[in-house]
Order: sequence, then structure tokens, then C-alpha cells
Amino acid sequence: MHDIIRQLEEKRQLARLGGGKARIESQHKKGKLSARERIELLLDPDSFEEWDMFVEHRCNDFGMEKQTPPGDGVVTGHGTVNGRLIFVFSQDFTVFGGSLSESHAEKICKIMDQALKVGAPVIGLNDSGGARIQEGVSSLAGYAEVFQRNVLASGVVPQISMIMGPCAGGAVYSPAMTDFIFMVKDTSYMFVTGPDVVKTVTHEEVTHEELGGAMTHTSKSGVADKAFENDAEALLQLRRFIDFLPASNREKPPVRPTPDSPTRIEESLDTLIPDNTNKPYDMRELVEKVADEGEFFELQSAYAGNILTGFIRMEGSTVGVVANQPMVLAGCLDIDSSKKAARFVRFCDCFNIPILTLVDVPGFLPGTSQEFGGIIKHGAKLLYAYAEATVPKVTVITRKAYGGAYDVMSSKHLRGDVNFAWPSAEIAVMGPKGAVEIIFRKDLGNNKKIADRTEEYRKRFANPFIAGNRGFIDDVIMPRNTRVRICRSLRMLAGKKLENPWKKHGNIPL
Ligand code: HXC
Repeated sequence: MHDIIRQLEEKRQLARLGGGKARIESQHKKGKLSARERIELLLDPDSFEEWDMFVEHRCNDFGMEKQTPPGDGVVTGHGTVNGRLIFVFSQDFTVFGGSLSESHAEKICKIMDQALKVGAPVIGLNDSGGARIQEGVSSLAGYAEVFQRNVLASGVVPQISMIMGPCAGGAVYSPAMTDFIFMVKDTSYMFVTGPDVVKTVTHEEVTHEELGGAMTHTSKSGVADKAFENDAEALLQLRRFIDFLPASNREKPPVRPTPDSPTRIEESLDTLIPDNTNKPYDMRELVEKVADEGEFFELQSAYAGNILTGFIRMEGSTVGVVANQPMVLAGCLDIDSSKKAARFVRFCDCFNIPILTLVDVPGFLPGTSQEFGGIIKHGAKLLYAYAEATVPKVTVITRKAYGGAYDVMSSKHLRGDVNFAWPSAEIAVMGPKGAVEIIFRKDLGNNKKIADRTEEYRKRFANPFIAGNRGFIDDVIMPRNTRVRICRSLRMLAGKKLENPWKKHGNIPL
């Protein structure tokens, strides 16, 4: 018996070393942690239950039968984050570059299947050279098995990808189908084809970092949701992020007790809106002032800055925030902001997270680049997402809510549950100047007349009361009371039940 126990311990020891000390050191020299160190930082101490430590690959080509490291390049299992169950896989770059073999894929699939059965998030820590080249089509088959599970798990359990090294070729499509992608600055990259192929095909010279680094994907492509300075920061922030999410679509988001009173008055909000309606202000200030303890976990902050998305808590419960940001493009909706917000709204709707929408939107961004780029289809994504969402929806119009964008931004007509406006709200088909220039086109040379008409239009339409008159706004509220009114509304909506007609699935304008 003693021998068997010793053998077991030796086997475990070997598995824990992955590709060996030298390779772990080389990983450290690159500023990266090992697969196991990452899991240790992510999970609560002593909570990790490892599975499939002794799995080996089955490849007999290219001398592979002589190298069969236990675990085959990925550490998998389950554990807890602040006491809540999650499943995790962490690719081990020290073993064949973390490349994905048939067995490696089977390990990932096993925890995904289990996560679906018990209803818990799947967290992937990606650090891989892609398909295990020696295994050929078996490796591709393994990827497809993972992809299939990504899709089946979508909307059932949250899936998060943390990219902590290479992620290239078709391998990018697993993270792409997860709910959130986070990256580590300088050490991670994602691309479908690398710099060498790009150079051959398009003659563009570009570095790994420029093509697919964290800054590229958080600011240019919008593929990634957030970038972190290093592995340790990334994993600690991931713990913080997981705290906002429910374990599955069968649960409500977790509640974290807060000392912040739901009746907190914020007098400074009464002066947030500048006197000049064309002057910007920072909508982030409003988000932070209504949130519990001012905490806002913002997503995609460097991409499509004209709309803010992220999570806050109100009375301890997670709330998804979508807010026009007048500081960027005057808060107009465009292609990128519509896509960004639509995906976020759909995530919240999948996982029973109420949506708070803060509106200051002068309309859709005009221009050939927007029209040629398909703003019609992309803008429709956000409209569709709001219209299909059945979670509690609370909307506050702070200033402009013009045209189609008024309808889109969680209006009453798209089943907004509670729709408030500040006294400064202007709810109309368009701004006074644009409106007068159209309906009084014949007077365009007459500045006095145009100015008078504009003022008349402003007085008549640039306010919240016509919408209030029709019941499209439930109340005009004092800015200082915004948190109080939202908290009460969300409390009232806690038992909301609303179902869409049965269908196999809708056909969102992709
Ligand atoms: C097998 C691999 C591997 C792979 C790396 N290794 N990638 N082994 N299959 N895909 C091995 C290397 O041989 C090396 O082994 C060790 O991992 C470390 O790799 P290095 O090259 O020394 O590391 P580094 O210089 O940091 O470069 C990392 C890298 C590079 C950029 C990822 O290894 C690389 O370009 N790898 C190939 C990437 C690739 O083309 N993958 C297939 C993509 S197609 P030793 O023993 O020397 O230490 C794809 C299709 C997916 O993934 C399709 C899904 C539908």
C-alpha cells in the first residue's frame, strides 16, 4: 500500500511540474505565471478540485509516444471564488506550448459538460499555441467539440475567457463565443492569421502586439472587454467580476450587503447638466453616483466610448448599466456603440440581470461611413436586444432623447418597466435647430424668424412633459433623487414575470 501511495504522490508531483522547471522559469521570465499558479490566484485557498491530472495524449506520430506529460497541457477542475462554485481550465504553455490535442480538448469538454449540469460558470485561462500540430485533424475535432459546447452553454452559464498568452488561428473562436474576453497587456495576443501570413497576403508589416495585442482588441476591434497590467491583476479583477454574475440562467445575481443607503440623496446631480444643451458632461459621474458605494465595473471603456456599459450594484444586487456618454460623439449611437450595447443587453437578459438605461442621445450618427458600414442593421441589433429583453428595465432620460434613438434606448414602447425623465429632458423627433430648418425651410434666409421659431419649438417640445402627458414617462424626477427612485423601482420589479412568444429562436439582425 505504501508503494502505491508513494507512486501516486510521484505521479502527482510530475503532473504538477507540467513541462518542467526550466519551462516554468521561462514562463516567469516572460512575466507570466504558470497554469497552476494562475488557478491558485483565481480560486479561494484550498478550494481547487483537480480532474484528469493523469490524462495523456494518444499520439504516436513524430516521436510523440516518447513524451507523454501527465495532464497533457491543461489543468482542469472546479473550485470556488468567494465561496461560489466555478469550473476552470488553465492551459499550460510549458507542455507543447499549451497546444490543444484530442485529450486536452476532452478535458475541457468534461468540465464544460459538468458546469452545464450543475449550473456554474466556466472560466478559461487561455495560453496556447493552438492546434497540436502533430495530431492533425484529431486536434481540429477537439476544437470543434469545445466550440459546440460554447454554443450550448451560451445563455445557460456565464463563460469568461482570460487570454494570458497566445491565442491564434481558429482557436480564437472559442473565446469569441464566450460572454466576456479579458486580456493581459504585453503578454497576450489574439488573431486569426499572424503577422507572417498577413505580410505574405496583404504586404502589411505589423507586430504581434499591433495586430492582436490587448490594446488593439480593447480599443480598435472591440473583441476584448478589458485589459489588465499583468497576470496577478487580471486574476484578482476576474474574481471581482465573477462576484457580479449569477451562477446560471436559473439563478438571480448574488446579493452583496452594502452600507450604502437606498435613500441616499445626491444633491450634486442637480447641477450635472450644463445650461448649454450642447455642452457635454460625464455620464460616468451619474453612474457612479447612483451605484452602491460608487462601484462601477466598466466594460469596453476604450471602445465605442459614446456608450458606457458595465455592472453596478443597487441595494446589493447586480444591475447592468447602459448609458449614452455625451463626452464622446455627443453620445450619438453609431455602429460600434450599437453592437457593444446590444451584446451587453443580451447578456443581462440571459442571466436575469436588471438593466438600467441612462439616456442622453441626440440620434444616430450621420455619414457615409456609417451608412456604408450598415448602421441600419447594426443599430437594429440594439433595438432588437432591448425589445426582446424581459428582465426589469428602468430608464432615466437626463437630457436628449431624439428620434429613433429615443425609441431604441429602452423606451416605454419597448416594454421599459419604469421610465423616468429629469426636468432637463428633451424628448422629441429631433433637436430644435434641425426641426426648424426642415419645417420652416422657406424661411432659412431670415435669421430672426428662424431664431424665433427655434425658441418656440424649444419651449414647446424640448421638455419631458409632452411624453409625460402621454404616459410614455412615468414621472419627472429630481436628479438628486435618482438613486432613491431607481432602487424603489428595482425593488418593485423584483418579482417581474414576462415571457416572449414561443419560438425556436429569434433572428436578430446579425
Ligand atoms: C505542437 C507546439 C505548438 C503547436 C508550440 N508548440 N505550438 N507544439 N503544436 N501548435 C511547442 C513548440 O514546439 C515548443 O516546443 C513549445 O511549444 C514552445 O513553443 P516556442 O515556439 O518555443 O514558444 P514561443 O517562441 O513563445 O512561441 C509561441 C508560439 C509558437 C508563437 C505560439 O510556438 C507558434 O507559432 N506555434 C505554432 C502556432 C500555430 O501555428 N498553431 C497552429 C495554428 S492553427 P519545445 O519542445 O521546442 O519547447 C490552429 C487551428 C485551430 O490552431 C483550428 C480550430 C478550428
